[in-house]
Amino acid sequence: MSANVYVTRLIPQSGLDLLTGAGLNVEVNPDDRVLTRGELLAAVRGRDGVLCLLTDTIDDAVMEAAGPQCKGFANYAVGYNNIDVAAATRRGLPVSNTPGVLTDTTAELAWALLFAAARRIVESDYFLRDGHWEAWGPMQFLGSDLKGATLGIVGAGRIGQAMALKSVGFEMNVLYTDAVARPEFEKALGARRVDLDALLRESDYISLHVALSPETTHLIGARELALMKETAILINTSRGPVIDEAALVEALCARTIGGAALDVYEREPILAGGLTDMPNAVLVPHIGSATRRTRGAMAEMAARNLLAMLRGERAPNCVNPEVYG
Ligand code: GLV
Ligand code: GLV
Repeated sequence: MSANVYVTRLIPQSGLDLLTGAGLNVEVNPDDRVLTRGELLAAVRGRDGVLCLLTDTIDDAVMEAAGPQCKGFANYAVGYNNIDVAAATRRGLPVSNTPGVLTDTTAELAWALLFAAARRIVESDYFLRDGHWEAWGPMQFLGSDLKGATLGIVGAGRIGQAMALKSVGFEMNVLYTDAVARPEFEKALGARRVDLDALLRESDYISLHVALSPETTHLIGARELALMKETAILINTSRGPVIDEAALVEALCARTIGGAALDVYEREPILAGGLTDMPNAVLVPHIGSATRRTRGAMAEMAARNLLAMLRGERAPNCVNPEVYG
């Protein structure tokens, strides 16, 4: 197949191999950094397809810049809030994502964050490295237990359910919110569907797993944080804007909640003022899907979607199937 595709940043080789193996002319951003807006607009020009990342804003102007020969955008992420899907649909352009392959990996990071916050791992690691440890202490770094505690899952989609499933070994109670009831999930885990306010009031650990949309933007703001227990920990591996980050900093500072453990932020890579000063926050740089196996699988999935688009076939993970009429 002779076609000309652009990859906006270096991804694992197995994905690139699928593209070059199909005979495509593949150009990859030579620098290991996010393209500027101007670079992105220039780079997509004349391409038959683009493999893009969650750090690329793909709006109507980018689609226009690509040109009428462009056959679609394959996003290297499960979330696709970086793409104006409505604009793509108007242009008849398929958009795809990478669902499923990163479900457990992201749920595992949510657990890593939960544990880190519950047992104050980061704070105590700093304490030790900074040379403050003089002796074992009965009152040092007291954290919270998991057994018998309540885990609140906000959004019981693939990742939310995977997170909940892994709680079985820890003997936790599970609450969840979702637009729809999930009877099999309830049966498997004894999980109970409640409204968000009840979940916030009753949970010891609250983990966010909703997709970002206008409805979920600032889903957790000052009012919701005020409903949480003083000891409760908020975990976010979904998208930053789901939390009002400034309100979270206030809650952490006033200690009206126990802590937060975050992988995602409102304005990545910028964090709300004061957040990095909070000892009761665990902060990692959007690494939810970052394992060697999963990033390879995402690369291959994005490549397969792009190949299907170029062949005029239905992309297996198309998020706007309306384009196929
Ligand atoms: C990562 O955040 C993803 O959406 O895949
Ligand atoms: C994301 O893929 C989800 O459905 O949770």
